[in-house]
Amino acid sequence: MRISVIGLGYLGAVHAASMAKLGHDVVGVDVDAAKVDALAAGTPPFYEPGLGELLTEVSATGRLQVTTDLSAVRGAQVHFVCVGTPQRADGYAADLTYVDAAIQNLTAHLSAGEIVVGKSTVPVGTAERLAEVVRRAVPGAHLAWNPEFLREGFAVQDTLSPDRIVYGVPGGEAAVTVTAALDAVYEAPLSTGIPRIVSDLPTAELVKVAANSFLATKISFINAMAELCEVAGADVTQLADAIGHDARIGRRFLNAGLGFGGGCLPKDIRAFMARADELGAGEAVAFLGEVDAINIRRRVRMVELAREVLDGSITGKRVTVLGASFKPDSDDVRDSPALDVAARLSELGAVVTVHDPQAIDNARAKQPRLHYERDLEAALAGADAVLLLTEWRQYRDLDPERVGTLVAQRTILDGRNALSRTAWTDAGWQYRALGRR
Ligand code: UGA
Repeated sequence: MRISVIGLGYLGAVHAASMAKLGHDVVGVDVDAAKVDALAAGTPPFYEPGLGELLTEVSATGRLQVTTDLSAVRGAQVHFVCVGTPQRADGYAADLTYVDAAIQNLTAHLSAGEIVVGKSTVPVGTAERLAEVVRRAVPGAHLAWNPEFLREGFAVQDTLSPDRIVYGVPGGEAAVTVTAALDAVYEAPLSTGIPRIVSDLPTAELVKVAANSFLATKISFINAMAELCEVAGADVTQLADAIGHDARIGRRFLNAGLGFGGGCLPKDIRAFMARADELGAGEAVAFLGEVDAINIRRRVRMVELAREVLDGSITGKRVTVLGASFKPDSDDVRDSPALDVAARLSELGAVVTVHDPQAIDNARAKQPRLHYERDLEAALAGADAVLLLTEWRQYRDLDPERVGTLVAQRTILDGRNALSRTAWTDAGWQYRALGRR
């Protein structure tokens, strides 16, 4: 099929390359010329494992074109809209400027029979409103919503082999046309037995925010237990293992620590609360306010813990922060808990050195006043305390003996419960973690 992908960020770039891998002829469009140039050269414009290899593979087939010229989408049967819906500057609601503009601009190049497919995460009700925009501008064109569930760090795998595929389709005869078109797009993954759910437009929009709200709630639940463990002298990692054995609960996404960040979970739960309020159902998701509050409290607690181990005063102390991205295997620093803690410590007068395997450039753009060090051993040298805030593999594999020869004080705060407490205490380290004695 001939497919267009509008917006080539973390979602769209992977989606465009994956659609080409599935055998489709893809044109990707973005307003950012630097991003387009990088992709055209087969270079990922951000860090995502496997994306470089995928781009090389599909570039060789000639099935992926990228451009800043929106008119290049003409003739595509399906147009995926993958632009961002960040949190608005003036409140919790989602900023729909980019989605609205993308679809409005797209209508100038659309023909009857073509299908616009939204993938961006939007407040429920947006798709029906935009379906009307498309119908009015181009009679015979349709709009569907096909939410995306990929995780950064696993984006290629999650796109080519998702847990499920959800189509929100319009009512009436258009439902058949749209479903058939999306079935053709996803023929290869569907043939492997991946579940497909076809719903109306609002259900598809809600599936996405419900999934992210559930995940955020699961993380904040275990972090609330961590708060209890801290005051009761218990251990949240053992608690998580024990309750996680119950298949109804499950151990995944039950890792206590510094909590969730990124471009999705935090803004999605806030936008959900804002939208529910608009619909007069704010009470139904008021608990998400608590989920958000528990999450932010972990960052505050981390700073308190640093103060405790630094003998009550942060000012002038040398603190090494390991990790700046919001999670390992990503260079994304949007709402990063690690970077937030680093900035808070710096504001309190600590001399903070931040290391990250991939995210230093993005972190510097966001927090230019922090000191960054690309060499891990240089970053650790002379530290009064080391804070592991993003659990990259290379930090989990650190040798406590070797690191002990570099720092000024053998004090480590494990913000992700990612290290072996025994290994570090055996090497003479003071080891502290969130939710543990
Ligand atoms: C999340 C969802 O997991 C995806 O399904 C969804 O498609 C995506 O948002 C989106 O809406 O686009 P992502 O933001 O890549 O994906 O990151 P997650 O893997 O969900 O992690 C989010 C945050 O939770 C990270 O900061 C991570 O460190 C934290 N986390 C995760 C925990 O603190 N504990 C856990 O047990 C798991």
